[in-house]
Amino acid sequence: MPVNLANGKPLAWDSANLDADTKAMLDNLQPNILQAHVREHLSLLLVSFGDKADGRRFLRGLVPLMKSARKHLEEVRSFNRARTPGTPYVGVGISKAGYLKLGEPTVEFTDNSFKSGLKRRKDTLSDPPVSAWEAPYQQEIHAIVLIGDATPEPVAATRARVHALLPKTAKIVGEETGSGLRDGQGRGIEHFGYVDGRSQPLFLADQVAAEKGTNWNPFFPLSHVLVPDPLAPKPSRHFGSYLVLRKLEQNVRAFRQAEEDLADALGLKGADRLLAGAMLVGRFRNGTPLRLHGKPSSDGFPVQNDFSYRDDAGSRCPVSAHIRKANPRDSRDEGLERLLGVMMARRGQTYGVRTDRPWDDAPPQTRPTGGVGLLFMAFNASLQQQFEFTQQSWADNRDFPAEGTGHDPVIGQGKRAGTVRYPKAWGGAALSAPQKQAPQTVTMKGGEYFFAPSLAYLKNL
Ligand code: HEM
Repeated sequence: MPVNLANGKPLAWDSANLDADTKAMLDNLQPNILQAHVREHLSLLLVSFGDKADGRRFLRGLVPLMKSARKHLEEVRSFNRARTPGTPYVGVGISKAGYLKLGEPTVEFTDNSFKSGLKRRKDTLSDPPVSAWEAPYQQEIHAIVLIGDATPEPVAATRARVHALLPKTAKIVGEETGSGLRDGQGRGIEHFGYVDGRSQPLFLADQVAAEKGTNWNPFFPLSHVLVPDPLAPKPSRHFGSYLVLRKLEQNVRAFRQAEEDLADALGLKGADRLLAGAMLVGRFRNGTPLRLHGKPSSDGFPVQNDFSYRDDAGSRCPVSAHIRKANPRDSRDEGLERLLGVMMARRGQTYGVRTDRPWDDAPPQTRPTGGVGLLFMAFNASLQQQFEFTQQSWADNRDFPAEGTGHDPVIGQGKRAGTVRYPKAWGGAALSAPQKQAPQTVTMKGGEYFFAPSLAYLKNL
């Protein structure tokens, strides 16, 4: 039976009744697509192949270091049951230029944005000119190799093994090091200090069962992230996913200043000043959704994700807030993100070292202005309809969801003209006087589009 990507039920990956095609799919799919792989320490290598034969040899040589999605899910289960540590994650993506270098036809890839490459999509995405990108990203990148684990040692050892596999004509054109940032409670945060990675599309039965909710349904069919791997031996059993990488530098000082300025402009005092940042992000720093609470929940309270914006025209969570622009969740089982199929699987990691405590209230001038940020990564079935749509049609569009909403204050790119109004008090109908939009504090430094092929394809090279 062919794998049903549009199945209306979450995938029971461990079921004894799983059909042969779905089993083969899981045995040949890379990990980190259906479920995030631990990548607290992450090494990201950008590779250029010198010639076709060496490129093929290098990729084939990586296979023994890689595991399947099924092996990963089994490892997660053993870890949860008995704290048995898993093996490192090695993931591979190949760019359009990479496939051409390998001598492959690319006509059968369905995604036109992938086929253009990120450099040629910069105008659509309001990105800086390529000449302003960091040097490695200005070059032709053929492949990305991701190596991740919970501790630095296995990452370093695996990275050395990958280096040893590099043929003479291939080279590493760039390298990034990601490392998880955590708040005082041990929750994963990004550099502005907010809990991140909480809201994800879930594909697997055990994940969905653990996240039951009544207002938001986190289940999404596999068709949101998987497409047949057109160059694999059996595309009906061998799947892959389109991966976007964008290095997003964060000017933390400027963002923190924008929070202070908004708090001043709204006349917020004392603990209420935290509302200003929450209005930009849509959650308080500890992840408390503004849709549900006007104050951060107490320590130890689980980070909630069971909400929609139905019945909130913006008096609780402003319609311009990052999480609301990026996922409007207007209703439980319909809504734009479902109708248009927009939700992607975000798998980014923070980069850059901090000596301050990103989650605390220390003043803006003690914060870094650069050198830190997010290695934004996400898996998509369609870069155009998911990542690009979110960035261009929602985040960068000051008139989404309604005229004059404003840019996404966190990731919106392009000229931020016009003003935005915020609720005067949380949950109250009265709106503030028009305020200047928060300045752009996230800068795109480079990136590329890749396809994460099936293991069957890599073995067969
Ligand atoms: C430096 C850049 C970024 C920062 C600091 C940032 C920060 C955050 C934070 C704090 C959250 C809340 C945690 C959660 O709900 O999981 C979030 C959620 C989210 N972000 Fe970002 N983000 C960044 C880039 C992006 C980009 C480039 C996109 C897509 C184009 C994006 C799309 C989303 C989506 C879809 C959600 C989940 C919203 C929901 O389902 O409620 N983010 N982000």
